[in-house]
Amino acid sequence: MNKRALITGVTGQDGSYLAELLYSKGYEVHGLRRRSSTFGTERIEHLIFGEEPKLQLHYGDLSDGNGLMRLIRELEPDEVYNLAAQSHVRVSFDQPTYTADTTAVGTLRLLEAIRDVQDDTGKQIRFYQASSSEMFGKVVETPQKETTPFYPRSPYGVAKVYSHWITINYRESYDLHASCGILFNHESPRRGETFVTRKITRGATRIKLGLQDKLFLGNLDAKRDWGFAGDYVEAMWRMLQQDKPDDYVVATNELYSVRDFCEKTFSRLDLDYRKYVEIDPRFYRPAEVELLLGDATKALTQLHWKPQTSFDQLVDMMCENDLAMAQNELLLTSGNAPSSKRSAA
Ligand code: NAP
Ligand code: GDD
Repeated sequence: MNKRALITGVTGQDGSYLAELLYSKGYEVHGLRRRSSTFGTERIEHLIFGEEPKLQLHYGDLSDGNGLMRLIRELEPDEVYNLAAQSHVRVSFDQPTYTADTTAVGTLRLLEAIRDVQDDTGKQIRFYQASSSEMFGKVVETPQKETTPFYPRSPYGVAKVYSHWITINYRESYDLHASCGILFNHESPRRGETFVTRKITRGATRIKLGLQDKLFLGNLDAKRDWGFAGDYVEAMWRMLQQDKPDDYVVATNELYSVRDFCEKTFSRLDLDYRKYVEIDPRFYRPAEVELLLGDATKALTQLHWKPQTSFDQLVDMMCENDLAMAQNELLLTSGNAPSSKRSAA
């Protein structure tokens, strides 16, 4: 029989890639979506429409424990991937309580639902928690690996540390097959437009076509280990296929600054970023994470996972997607648009 999986955060960047991956592996794929005044399903439209939908959606919210309990009881999934979160670091300083409720306590609500259903039915439900390199924050060693102590620098980072440890605690206390992937930054053409890489590729391509003049950014000196989201969801799946649950760093072990990302993107479009990028202090954070660089040796040796996409390929695919979007926008403004839909690439 096909395995059944439930993905929270299925409308987000990673959720959409993971849903595709699980479907391609023969899973019956279910996703949790929250109610909102707009559809919010741009990234998964190709999976939910058509004669045979590849993904079944259920309304729910990590703030609603009863709803989660009911859904887990009804579905009895083999695997649950908890990707839902208020995932924006800067926003977490403006909405710390909401971030704690969703990104921290939301995980506990989901674990409680799984524990209850597993107790009642005897069915083993494997659990994946989306932990984050943001937990390393003001790093105490470089590169960061599974044993590096955490020093979170944002309400989001603190919430993720709670979720990480409560997942480990449930694994140890209740014998749950629960694993945490400590994923370093990963991007794609489906990345939210307020994260820095996508903000840069959207901005630069719009500048190229004359749709905007300037791109306003914050700290250009921050350094990150950026990978491709499509590669990283494969690591999530591999974690849940192991006999024993465990925690793994997933990263490329390559370091670039925000400035490097600007330089690479603008020069690919034959532009000099220094003419267009301006600093706006509103994009600074009250406490910054200056550098994140991961050591994914454990994932490499135990999961046989390694990134397939280079930094240059990542920038290329994001630029290509966003150039097409900007061209569409241009046609729209001139009243000749072939399609007003954004690419789900
Ligand atoms: P994303 O694009 O921001 O997606 C977040 C998802 O969570 C969306 O589907 C969102 O739904 C959903 N969500 C937010 N609040 C919710 C709530 N209260 N109840 C139910 N669903 C809720 O994030 P992502 O980049 O795909 O990342 C996936 C996960 O990995 C997140 O937990 C993130 O914190 C973590 N992570 C990401 C990275 C990275 O670099 N991308 C690195 C490490 C860890 P809506 O569409 O309705 O907003
Ligand atoms: N968003 C944003 N916007 N960031 C900017 C800007 C800007 O205008 N200008 C400079 N930056 C800097 C930020 O200060 C940060 O140091 C870096 O660019 C990356 O910012 P984001 O792309 O917002 O990502 P993040 O590293 O804060 O968080 C992402 O990665 C985490 C994993 O380390 C998110 O995806 C988190 O959910 C994830 O856990």
